[in-house]
Amino acid sequence: MNTFIEKCCSECWHSPETPCDLFVRCSTEGALCHHHKECEDKIKSLNRRLTYQEHEVPVIFIGMGTCGLASGAQKVEEAIKAELEKLNITAQIEATGCIGFCAKEVIVDIKLPGLDRISYCEITPKLVPKLIQKTLIDKEIFREKLLGSHGKGTSEIPSLNDIPFFRSQHKIVLEHCGVINPASIDTYIVYGGFKALDKVLRLMKPEEVIKEVLASGLRGRGGGGFPTGKKWELAFKQKSDKKYLICNADEGDPGAFMDRSVLESDPFRIVEGMIVAAYAMGATFGYIYCRAEYPLAISRLQNTIEQCRRYGLLGDNILNSSFSFDIKIKKGAGAFVCGEETALIGSIEGRRGMPKPRPPYPTDAGLYGKPTVINNVETFANVTAIINMGSEKFSSIGTATSKGTKVFALSGNIKNTGLVEVPMGITLEDVVFDIGGGIPNNKQFKAVQIGGPSGGCLPESVITTPVDYESLKQVGAMMGSGGFVVMDEDTCMVDVAKYFLTFIQQESCGKCVPCREGTKRMLEIIERIPTSYKNTKIKTDQLQRFKGIVHLQRLADVIRDTSLCGLGQSAPNPVLSGLRYFKDEYEEHLFERKCHSGVCKELLTFTIDNSVCTGCGVCIRKCSSDAIVGEKGQAHYIVDDKCIRCGMCVDSCRFEAINVN
Ligand SMILES: Cc1cc2nc3c(=O)[nH]c(=O)nc-3n(C[C@H](O)[C@H](O)[C@H](O)COP(=O)(O)O)c2cc1C
Ligand code: SF4
Ligand code: SF4
Repeated sequence: MNTFIEKCCSECWHSPETPCDLFVRCSTEGALCHHHKECEDKIKSLNRRLTYQEHEVPVIFIGMGTCGLASGAQKVEEAIKAELEKLNITAQIEATGCIGFCAKEVIVDIKLPGLDRISYCEITPKLVPKLIQKTLIDKEIFREKLLGSHGKGTSEIPSLNDIPFFRSQHKIVLEHCGVINPASIDTYIVYGGFKALDKVLRLMKPEEVIKEVLASGLRGRGGGGFPTGKKWELAFKQKSDKKYLICNADEGDPGAFMDRSVLESDPFRIVEGMIVAAYAMGATFGYIYCRAEYPLAISRLQNTIEQCRRYGLLGDNILNSSFSFDIKIKKGAGAFVCGEETALIGSIEGRRGMPKPRPPYPTDAGLYGKPTVINNVETFANVTAIINMGSEKFSSIGTATSKGTKVFALSGNIKNTGLVEVPMGITLEDVVFDIGGGIPNNKQFKAVQIGGPSGGCLPESVITTPVDYESLKQVGAMMGSGGFVVMDEDTCMVDVAKYFLTFIQQESCGKCVPCREGTKRMLEIIERIPTSYKNTKIKTDQLQRFKGIVHLQRLADVIRDTSLCGLGQSAPNPVLSGLRYFKDEYEEHLFERKCHSGVCKELLTFTIDNSVCTGCGVCIRKCSSDAIVGEKGQAHYIVDDKCIRCGMCVDSCRFEAINVN
C-alpha cells in the first residue's frame, strides 16, 4: 500500500464515487470499518513511511519554494543527484516548500534512518560533494553549514526552535511549510491534514462551525481585519440557490510574499480551509484568484485540487456528507486593484477589474449577483487550526482584539530576510532585532514600512508598538496583509514616499477623480521636493514647491474621504506618516536643499578636494558631461552647472579626492 486511496483490502470501498465518512480517520487510525490486523499494519506502515519514522535509505529534503529556486535549489538538486549517482548511493529526494529563512537558502535537510532530520543552509552545487561526503558517507555533521535539527537538538546541534530566527515565532499557518512535501496529499494527511474537515462534516452543523470561528476571534488577514465568522454568518443567512466562496491570492503589495509562500509550501491547508468555509456558509463552488506571476503556486494548487478530487475530498458528496463543493483557479493579470474584493469579482466575471460601491456587500450580492464570501489565503490557513485546536486555545494567543498569529514577509535592510509568523502583540522591535537579527553592515535602524503600499513608515520612537490591528493604526500604519520592509539610516524618507506614491498612482484604476487625479497631484508635489533649484525652469517653481507642501495635508484628506475603494482611501498614508515622523527630513530637503542619505541625486554637490587631487586626469576622461576641468598634474575642479551627478568620477578616482555632499 503506497497511498491512502489504494484499498487496504477488498472490504475497503472508499472512492469519490462511493465515499466513506471514515476515510480521513481511517488513513491514520484504520482500518475502521473492518478490524483486520493485516490492514491495520499496512496503514500504520504507510504512516510511518510518510512521516519518515521508517525509511531504509537517507532522505534528502530540498527547499524548492520560489525563494529556494531563485537561490539555485534546482542546480543544487541536480548536483545532489549527480553526486549520489557517482558514489552509487541510494537516497530519497523530497522537494519541500520554504521554511521561512529565505536569507539562508538553499536549505537542504538530511535524515539518516533512525536519526533526527538535520538542516543545512546556503548550500551551493560546489558544496554538494562535501555535504554528501560528511553526512552520508562519514555519517557526521557538516558543521560549516549547519542550521539546526528538526528534533530536540543536542549540545552539539541546536534545535531549529532554539535559534534566534525561529525562537520567538509561533507557527500555526506556517507549521508545515518547508517541512512536508507540498505535492503529496498522503503526506498532508499523515501530518494531520483534513482532520478539521473530517470533524466538521461528521460532527458539526454549519452554524456550529460559524460559532466556533466567531469565538476564535479570527479577523481577516487580507488587510481589513473584518471578523471572519461574522462574514460567514452574513452569507449563511442569505437565502439563495447558489453561493460562492473566493480565496483572494492576488497579493500585490510590494515586498509581500506571504500568500505565495504558503500556497507553494502547504497548498492542501488552504483548500481544506476553503472546504470548511464553504460548508459553513453554504457555498457549492469556489474560486482561487491567484496572480499569474505566481506560476509555482498555481501549479501546486492545480495539483492539490486534482488530488483532492481523486480522494473524494472535492466534488460531489464529500466524505459521504451530502455536501458538494468544487474549486477552480482564476489567474489574475497582476493589477494591484484586482485584490480589492469587488474588482476581483468583476475580474472573475470577465469584466475590467474596477471596484464598485458597497453596499451591496459581496455577502449579499457578490459573484454573478449571488452571496459570496471572499477571504485571504492566510485567513483560510487559520481555519483548520481553529477547528483542530478549538476556539478557546486559538483565542488565548494574541491580544484582546487581535487573536492568533500574523505572518510577515521581512525584507529590506534586515539581516534575516524571510517569512515569519509571530503571535499578535509581539513588538515591532522584537520582530526587527530578535527574529530579524537587526540591521546589516553596522547601520542604524531608521524605519519599518508596514501595511503594504498604503501603510506607514514607523520610526525608532514607536518601535515598541505591539503588532495588533488597533495599535498599528494608532501610530499611523496598519496591519495590512503582511509586508514588513525595514529601512536603515541610508534610506531617504522622501524617496520612500515617492516610491510608494508612484506605485499607488500607477495602480489607481482611474474610476474616481480624487484617487486618479489627487494621487497624481500628490506625486508631483513629492517629486518636486528633491529637484534642484538649478534646474528650475520657471521662476514660480520655488513658490509652488512650498505651496504644495502646505496643501499636501488638505489634498490627502480629500483623497481619503472621497475615494471609492481602499486603494484611494489609504493612498496618502505613506506621505502622511512621512510628514508625521520624518518632518525634519522633508524640511532638510526643502530649506537646506540637502538629502543627507545621498539618495536624491539632484541635491548632491560633487567637489574635488584640491589637497588630495593629484591631477591624474582619470575623472576628466570618465566624465560624460565635460564637467571637470584642470591641467595634468594640478588639482582639478568640477563645474557644478554642468555636473549631472552620475557619480562616475567618485568611482574612478583612486585617491578618494572627490567629496559628495
Ligand atoms: C487595493 C486593494 C488591494 C487588495 N489586495 C488584496 C490582496 O491582494 N489580498 C487580499 O487578501 N486582500 C486584498 N484586499 C482586501 C480585500 O478587498 C478583502 O478585504 C479581503 O480579501 C478579505 O479577506 P479577509 O477578510 O480574509 O481579509 C485589497 C483591498 C484593496 C482596497
Ligand atoms: S479609489 Fe482609486 S482605485 Fe479605487 S475605485 Fe477609485 S480610482 Fe479606482
Ligand atoms: S558626478 Fe558625473 S557629471 Fe559630475 S563631475 Fe563627476 S563624472 Fe562628471
